[in-house]
Amino acid sequence: MCGIVGYVGQRDAAEILLEGLHRLEYRGYDSAGIAVFGENGIAIRKKAGRVTELAQLLERQPAIGSVGIGHTRWATHGAATDINSHPHVGGNGDVVVVHNGVIENYATLKDKLQERGYVFRSSTDTEVVAHLIAHQLEELIKLGDDPTDVKTAVTAVEASIKVLKGTYGLGILFRDLPGLLIGARAGSPLVVGVGKGEYFLASDSGPLVGHTSEIVYLSDNELVVLTPDEMKLTHRDSGKMVPSIQVLDQAAADSDLGEFEHYMLKEIYEQPTTIENALRGRLDDDAATAKFGDVNLTVQQLRRIDRVVLTACGTSWHSGLVGEYLIEEFARIPVEVEYASEFRYRNAPLSETTMIFAITQSGETADTLAAMRESQRKGHSTLAICNVVGSTIAREADGGIYLHAGPEIGVASTKAFTSQVAVLTLLALYFGRIRNMSYGAGQRIISHLRAMPETIQRSFACHDAVKEVAQKYYGADNFLYLGRNYNFPVALEGALKLKEISYIHAEGYPAAEMKHGPIALVDENTPSVFVIPRCGLYPKVMSNLEEVKARKGPIIAIACEGDDQIARFADDVIFVPDVEDYLQPIVTAIPLQLLAYEIALLRGCNVDRPRNLAKSVTVE
Ligand code: G6P
Repeated sequence: MCGIVGYVGQRDAAEILLEGLHRLEYRGYDSAGIAVFGENGIAIRKKAGRVTELAQLLERQPAIGSVGIGHTRWATHGAATDINSHPHVGGNGDVVVVHNGVIENYATLKDKLQERGYVFRSSTDTEVVAHLIAHQLEELIKLGDDPTDVKTAVTAVEASIKVLKGTYGLGILFRDLPGLLIGARAGSPLVVGVGKGEYFLASDSGPLVGHTSEIVYLSDNELVVLTPDEMKLTHRDSGKMVPSIQVLDQAAADSDLGEFEHYMLKEIYEQPTTIENALRGRLDDDAATAKFGDVNLTVQQLRRIDRVVLTACGTSWHSGLVGEYLIEEFARIPVEVEYASEFRYRNAPLSETTMIFAITQSGETADTLAAMRESQRKGHSTLAICNVVGSTIAREADGGIYLHAGPEIGVASTKAFTSQVAVLTLLALYFGRIRNMSYGAGQRIISHLRAMPETIQRSFACHDAVKEVAQKYYGADNFLYLGRNYNFPVALEGALKLKEISYIHAEGYPAAEMKHGPIALVDENTPSVFVIPRCGLYPKVMSNLEEVKARKGPIIAIACEGDDQIARFADDVIFVPDVEDYLQPIVTAIPLQLLAYEIALLRGCNVDRPRNLAKSVTVE
């Protein structure tokens, strides 16, 4: 939610900031803005709308200089207007701030600052931070401190952030200190890129790509002072720190669109590769099990586990539901899947033998992070299933499993979902094999998993059929998505994809449960998507399908190749390869991802940047 970027060096700051904002736009796209130090002080250019609109503004009104900050916004406090766009100015232009996060005590602070005569122009919480720093600066200057001394600026920031409640990643410029950029972090991610005679500040590694391979991940309560020649890092409690410079994997952080029209389509088509990456090095043929490098627990510790909690949000929560079916079936361990936003505030009983996993693509989702911290606070080691290397959750977890899916830019998650399911299958296999699963069963699962990349490749053959179905139904106002067993979470995920990017109301339901409510929605204008591959419950799902058909509801079936009876019952059939039931979610998700994509295109929606959403939700 919101992306911030900063630069100090010798090059054209505006160009670097703009490029960085393009890469961070997935974090929010309500408005964009930059502030650049020029010969005549700090020039601010900001605008409601996309980064491209800011770029057009900059063509008309350039901002020239080699130090600056930038921001792309997902609105929390105040509408998406030019005035509410960042950067925000404090005092009489003494301080300029960009912010990612939420200042929870902003109203109280605002009252106090207004009493002291500070004039607020926006309705954002961020402007409070800008005025607060300006106020601290003013107080220090009254006491005789020099406004052109870096120490004064640092002291003003330290005094200000002490009173802030909530979360922030901040980039701060000072009118009287032209070569200075200060960054501070509490709860919102922030990294520093280390160049030669230049430094970058950003919400994630994306803006560093192509500029430097040296990265420092800031931790909470750290403050970084950057000038073209120097980086100074301090921690609120431990004081001066030696920055730990790590190597950034440029290829992994790169996110070019390539030949594709949209990131979502590119990411859907990457799935044979991303599944291969999720499995690479993790299949142990000799022991007929899975192996992981960084779980950091012994077999003895893992054997003692008698309950698993999977906590996540959004699509990651749906993959958690598949994980529940998998782990319970393979390992006979009871699993609960918790919305992180609920789990963090619930006093759920957790025994010593409960294992907690946070599932997250970004590794930055505020609720998932808080749920993980809450369980760690109670003394439970918590593992992460995460995609973004170096993200906050990946770093703070006690161990974990990376997806290795590469950057996911499309706001609607696709490849992360299937990779999460693949990793959860490995986990279920592992838990199963240290319990009662036979060697032969383990071997069979391994060979089926190994075939998945090729199977997914074959499943793209459904794309033409999906386009036809999209053409037929894109005008509908409501959709039902129905599935059972492993395909119930897929139904939820299919409905979520459609809602997210086409703005059509869609409900995912267990196919049989549909009789207890959603069936009232069925009429000739409400298509039902039945996920009905061949499995033990096929006849049961078929009965549910008949119930909808009897009420004149159009039926779209996602069925297995070779199912020669389905066409007699469904209005439209989309065939996918036939796989074992526990691997079906990876295959059946694909036509549903494509269906949402094609319908959104036909409705003229912005597929990669759907309204009101953000890729990384760093506010609770
Ligand atoms: C946002 C995204 C979703 C994602 C969810 C959880 O809502 O738009 O696509 O599933 O956050 O994100 P995470 O990064 O924790 O998986």
